[in-house]
Amino acid sequence: MQEEIKPDTARHEANRQAWNAATQAHNSHKADQAVFFRGGGSTLFPEELDLLGNIRGRSILHLQCNAGQDTLSLAALGARVTGVDISDHAIEFARQLAADTAIPATFERADIYGWFAEAQAAGRQFDIVFCSYGFLCWLSDLRGWARGVASVLKPGGRFVAVEFHPFSMVFDDDWSRTDDYPTGGQPLDWRSGVGDYVAISGDGLTPSGWVEGVTSFRNPHPGHEWPWGLGDVVTALIEAGLTLETLREYPYSNGERRFVGMREGAGKRMYPPEGMPAVPLMFGLTARRGAAPVAHEASDR
Ligand SMILES: C[S@@+](CC[C@H](N)C(=O)[O-])C[C@H]1O[C@@H](n2cnc3c(N)ncnc32)[C@H](O)[C@@H]1O
Repeated sequence: MQEEIKPDTARHEANRQAWNAATQAHNSHKADQAVFFRGGGSTLFPEELDLLGNIRGRSILHLQCNAGQDTLSLAALGARVTGVDISDHAIEFARQLAADTAIPATFERADIYGWFAEAQAAGRQFDIVFCSYGFLCWLSDLRGWARGVASVLKPGGRFVAVEFHPFSMVFDDDWSRTDDYPTGGQPLDWRSGVGDYVAISGDGLTPSGWVEGVTSFRNPHPGHEWPWGLGDVVTALIEAGLTLETLREYPYSNGERRFVGMREGAGKRMYPPEGMPAVPLMFGLTARRGAAPVAHEASDR
C-alpha cells in the first residue's frame, strides 16, 4: 500500500505569495498585451495546438493558468474556457486582460486541490482539462491531482498537457549535470521562490514584444516545489482511471532560454548548443476518461 499524501496547503500558500511577486515581474517585460490579443495574437505553440485538436465549442478547464494569456488564446479559438490559479495577482491580471480584449473567459482564484473538491461537489465537468509549461513542480500530491483531473472530465473527455521534461532538471544553468532525476515528490524548499525566467528568456516568452520592465528581480518570498518524473505523472493518471493515448518527447523547449548557449530554431524552439547530444526538453501527453465512472479512491497496489 502506497503512503497516502495530502495536499500541502501551507506550502501552497507560501507559493501563492511567491507567484504574486513573480507574475508582476514577468508581466513587466511584456509589451501591451491587450493590443497584441486585439490584433489576433496568440501565445500558444504548435505542440499544444496539435495535442488539443479542434477545440471550437469545447469546454476547457485550464489549470494553473497564471495571468491568463494561454487561456484567452484558447478562448479566441472558440473554446469556452475556465482558468484557475492560486495567484491573486495573476487572476486579477487575467480578468483585466479579458475585459480589455473582449475575449470571453472565466477566471477563478483558488488552490486547485480545494477547487477540485468544490467542483466535484457541484458536478462541474469539462470536455478537456489542460495544463502546460511549468505546472508539474507545484503539485504536492500528484495522485490526488490526477484524481481531481479525472473527476472534472466528462466521460470521454481528454486531459492534455505540455510540460518541460523532468530530465532537463538534472542540468544546472550551464548544462553541468548537478541534480538527480526528479522523482518521488519530496518537497524542495527554496529561500527565494520563482525567479524572473521571462527576463532571462528575452523575446522568447514575450510574443507581444519585449520591454525591460523590472530589473534584478529577486523573489522576497520562499518557494516550495515537488520533484516528479515522467513515470510518476503517467502512473498517477493511469491510477486515476485515465487511458494514456499520446506521449511525446521533444528535443527543444518552447520560448524559454533556460540554459546557456541555447540555439533558437524556427518558432522560438530552443535547442541545446551545437555539438551537444539531443536530450528531451519537453514532453506532451493526452489521456482520456472512459465512459465508465472513475474510481476516486487511492489504489492500494
Ligand atoms: C509556470 S506557471 C504556469 C503557466 C501556465 N502554463 C500559463 O498558461 O501561463 C505555474 C502556475 O501555477 C500556479 N500554482 C502553483 N501552485 C498552485 C496551486 N496549488 N493551485 C493553483 N495554482 C497554482 C502559480 O500561481 C502559477 O501561476
